[in-house]
Amino acid sequence: QENIPNGTKNSTTTTNIPDSYVGYSNLPDQAFRRAVRQGFDFNLMIIGESGLGKSTFVNTLFLTDIYGDSYPGPSAKAEDKVEIRSTTVKLEEDGVSLRLSVIDTPGFGECVDNSECWKPIVDYIDARFDDYMTVEGRVTRDSRKIIDNRVHACLYFLAPTGHRLKTLDFECLKRIQNKVNIIPIIGKADCMTPEECKEFKKNILADLQKHQIKIYDFVDEDKANRETKSDPEYLKMRTLRDRIPFAVVGANSYITNSAGNKVRARTYPWGTVEVNNVEHNDFAVLSYYLIKEQMQNLREVTHRRHYENYRAAKLSGIAEGSNFKTHDGQDPMMLMDAEKREHEAKLRKMEADMEAVFTQKVAEKSAKQREFEADLLRRAEQMREQLRQDEAALETERRTFEERRSQWEEAWREWDIVGGASTDSGGPM
Ligand code: GTP
Repeated sequence: QENIPNGTKNSTTTTNIPDSYVGYSNLPDQAFRRAVRQGFDFNLMIIGESGLGKSTFVNTLFLTDIYGDSYPGPSAKAEDKVEIRSTTVKLEEDGVSLRLSVIDTPGFGECVDNSECWKPIVDYIDARFDDYMTVEGRVTRDSRKIIDNRVHACLYFLAPTGHRLKTLDFECLKRIQNKVNIIPIIGKADCMTPEECKEFKKNILADLQKHQIKIYDFVDEDKANRETKSDPEYLKMRTLRDRIPFAVVGANSYITNSAGNKVRARTYPWGTVEVNNVEHNDFAVLSYYLIKEQMQNLREVTHRRHYENYRAAKLSGIAEGSNFKTHDGQDPMMLMDAEKREHEAKLRKMEADMEAVFTQKVAEKSAKQREFEADLLRRAEQMREQLRQDEAALETERRTFEERRSQWEEAWREWDIVGGASTDSGGPM
């Protein structure tokens, strides 16, 4: 069934094959290049009691010292409480950059009262969902720049006791199963014989099933149903599922094995355990599928399933007017209202600023105009004054001339009376 937008009439979808190459078949390449340019975020939570080889395992997995100097060592851990400690490293391989955060949970299962030691873990996972929801719900946002701090996978370490799951494990797994992809791991697997390990795995799976605890499924049954169950990929994944829970060994030291290769291994008086040897433990299988095959799927499942569940629950909580709170105890509706008010205030301030700039510009223009007019008036007045002075000077000159003319005429008349004109003496002067 095609999705037809509301109000659209006669919408039809047909499949056409263009006559020649158009270029949109390059879309996957474009998406790939963009993804590589942006890099990837992957956040891995490690839960388990102290001394199960968690740090050694993570360092072995990423072939680097993830914790570096920030690793406080077992003795430096806070007493009687579970801490959440996140370490972020930027890794680069063949031009692909990975922002890896390892979220450690020191103190887990080691408090005097462990009944609620899952709580800081659940709070942390919820808080990261909340952060993502807040950023995603902003009025102004750039989805490409949202840093994804949600927990994409949780490696849950079990002690190689050979017994069954503990109450603490059930309590914790129950609380986080719908929030994160759980991958159960048996640490320090070299402490068990292969038979013990097999038996232990069987017991763990039975316990998980009995308590209906969901763990990350490496096999995409939906996809398998759509395609074919004889697909080699599907079969490979099924084989992998047979190894769950993964029994792993970690090591920081190297040896040269019988084939002359330098490999990570643990050496004992009775022999060596090679970390990457699938005959010795499940490390290589887990590492292959976790990093090479499933990393993107873990990210997608986190987004599509866990985050969507959380978001839907939260929003329906809001819609029903329940007193749903964010991880720091605030009302999400009030947060949204506050954000809206803040945005409106920003708009109002921008408007006022623009109006102030406009008024200032108009005032400046008017002042200039007035100055120009005043200058014109001043110059006109100066010209008028000059004209008045010139007129006065001309008047004085005219009067002097008139005086001199009347004097001359007077003299001329007198000269004429005395008969000067008949003597032709040349005039009165
Ligand atoms: P905390 O930092 O206290 O939480 O411990 P952790 O679980 O991170 O364990 P860590 O990696 O610090 O290892 C504890 C000790 O176990 C170290 O001496 C490691 O050398 C050793 N160790 C690590 N991995 C293995 C393993 O697979 N088998 C065995 N036998 N020992 C291991």
